[in-house]
Amino acid sequence: MAKVKITETVLRDSHQSLIATRMTTEEMLPILSELDKVGYHSLEAWGGATFDSCLRFLDEDPWDRLRKIRAEVKNTKLQMLFRGQNILGYRHYADDVVEYFVQKSIANGIDIIRIFDALNDPRNLETAIKATKKEGGHVQAAISYTISPVHNNEYFANYAKTLEDMGADSICIKDMAGLLLPYSAYDLVKAIKEKISIPVQLHTHYTTGLASMTILKAVEAGVDIVDCAISPMAMGTSQAPTESIVATLQGTEYDTGLDLQQLDKINRYFTPIREKYIKSGLLDPKVLKVNINTLLYQVPGGMYSNLLSQLKNAGKEELLSEVLEEVPRVRADAGYLPLVTPTSQIVGTQAVMNVLTGERYKMVTNEFKGILKGEYGKTPVDIDPEFRKSILGTYDHIDYRPADDLEPELDKLRSEIAQYIEQDEDVLSYALFEKVALKFFESRKAKKYGLDAEAEDKELKVHPV
Ligand code: CO
Repeated sequence: MAKVKITETVLRDSHQSLIATRMTTEEMLPILSELDKVGYHSLEAWGGATFDSCLRFLDEDPWDRLRKIRAEVKNTKLQMLFRGQNILGYRHYADDVVEYFVQKSIANGIDIIRIFDALNDPRNLETAIKATKKEGGHVQAAISYTISPVHNNEYFANYAKTLEDMGADSICIKDMAGLLLPYSAYDLVKAIKEKISIPVQLHTHYTTGLASMTILKAVEAGVDIVDCAISPMAMGTSQAPTESIVATLQGTEYDTGLDLQQLDKINRYFTPIREKYIKSGLLDPKVLKVNINTLLYQVPGGMYSNLLSQLKNAGKEELLSEVLEEVPRVRADAGYLPLVTPTSQIVGTQAVMNVLTGERYKMVTNEFKGILKGEYGKTPVDIDPEFRKSILGTYDHIDYRPADDLEPELDKLRSEIAQYIEQDEDVLSYALFEKVALKFFESRKAKKYGLDAEAEDKELKVHPV
């Protein structure tokens, strides 16, 4: 019996996708023990943008959040999202930072680390995979799903095999833009399952209105685990609703075994929270609508709105269709990168420039040059050396693992923030989000003294002199 397992995303991707990652730890805590009773394969609870959002917007210590969740979730595995050599930040970090981050994530309660790279360059996953294995964690290596003339089932299956050989304990098909069509999912899962022997998990988004159908076809093809979000925090740019998938599979050979009554407890907890977000404007009903542009142009939703706003700013909205035709050409020139942060912005901006200036590559952004130089890693298809030369002139292009250029940085970072360090993990918060972390450390310090002052006040009131 092929029982399908479910990963619940309400504590991470679901609110990252719907409300810009603004759910607070306080909002999570009261429901954790009930979530723990459901019998999920795992709870995706950390990583991705949650770390940045805690420090930048919520004045929360992300490590403290993880420890609090772990204390309440005693049985269910906790899962996080990890961007290969970028960790949770926006640049390549030295190996010692990656290793230490993995070590501390697992020490603070993470069981499964989902590791991916925007370019699907296995070298960018190497250090994180090794570190996770060393710490006894479960390595889930993810394939960034995309559509292009070179990204076929054979390509993805071969990549899955490479990741299995590198030590992955399971594979995730990561369809961040909701591009994966139901019948394509069926064939893709079959192709990957034929090539590897470890479990396969599907992560997709409801953006294009397809996720439930895509999950169903993937299940029929033998996928082992699927990502869902409890219904009040599902659909739109988030995941497919957990309850609907559980009900669909009930009584079949794929039965998840989860109890809809127990899930209803979770649903009833998050329903008023959803209402609150809608009322405050944090949850914009616009993101709940099916995104037709993603289906039409196969570009992620966020990329389409970026292109439109760049053209609006230039007063050239009428050039949108020209830009949309230029995007696949720029992408081909750049070796058919998967379009995901940051590559979607880099390709999109270059396409806009090519159209606005009226001459292709008359102006080239530094980020686009970075792709051509190999700073982000190996592109799915080699870039034409003549094209590269026409833009960069003569330049030694990086054909090795980009992080090999980076010296260890932990000691230096530690000495820079010596006065703020209250826990080992602080150096990692600082490594990833320097200024934002410093601001958080300042606020933490102030609060500490503020609280102390308040306590003294109370003492005075109790014992007036
Ligand atoms: Co996602």
